[in-house]
Amino acid sequence: MRIIIEQNPEAASIRAAGWISQLIRKKPKCVLGLATGSTPLAVYGELIRQHREEDLDWSQVTSFNLDEYVGLPPTHPQSYRYFMDENLFRHINIPTQNVNVPDGRALDFERYCRTYEKLIQQAGGIDLQLLGIGADGHIAFNEPGSSLGSRTRIKTLTRKTIEDNARFFESPSEVPRMAITMGVGTILDSRQCLLLATGGHKAEAVAKTVEGPVTSQITASALQLHRDVVVVLDESAAALLQRVDYYREVEQVQREIESAFVSEPSGG
Ligand code: GLP
Repeated sequence: MRIIIEQNPEAASIRAAGWISQLIRKKPKCVLGLATGSTPLAVYGELIRQHREEDLDWSQVTSFNLDEYVGLPPTHPQSYRYFMDENLFRHINIPTQNVNVPDGRALDFERYCRTYEKLIQQAGGIDLQLLGIGADGHIAFNEPGSSLGSRTRIKTLTRKTIEDNARFFESPSEVPRMAITMGVGTILDSRQCLLLATGGHKAEAVAKTVEGPVTSQITASALQLHRDVVVVLDESAAALLQRVDYYREVEQVQREIESAFVSEPSGG
């Protein structure tokens, strides 16, 4: 895991956005895995800015979102599809037919989940999966206890997740009890994962994810098994990590190597 610690949430978001825009520029036909929640909001804001001001072109990009509440239509203001339309898709030039968000109103969920997995495969697999993290260490809606090999399926939400997400609804009783979510196994199939976490309320989950044992009780810890994971944190989210000095040192060396590559003309 590459651990990047930025001073504040803004800097962390800009760093994460840079990762995504770099990929789009390098591989215009890339497949992105996208996430919802408060954490990626500033990332999307920066990507929109780059589209408007720096010609970041989404015309060939395909996207797959991690999850969606069961029962909410795409027009529901708390649905993840609505969130993505409002906070990213309608501000950039990604073709609507390239956008995939799980359908929370599918009639045959089992079949639909298999189709979603197939669509990801047909698109060539996910190049870069953006992830947030729940306070209990979940990724997407893979609640504690989810199989680390799980695929896209329906998941019952924990009381903690319902309470955490109730802030977006009028009351906790309005939060759907179930969600359709990519599995941990689906996420691990992505070529690269980019986990963004900001704020002290994520510090415990981050420490368990990065330095704890791999366990289905903290589904984000499965990322330790992935060969290409970047974790971007602000200082508050990194506060409970034991090996911060080492991560900073590694990052320093990494940056030196990268800048040497940039300044050296290739083919010499
Ligand atoms: C939900 C989403 C996750 C997200 C998490 C944290 O559970 N399914 O994908 O990472 O919320 O959200 P926030 O960024 O608002 O803390």
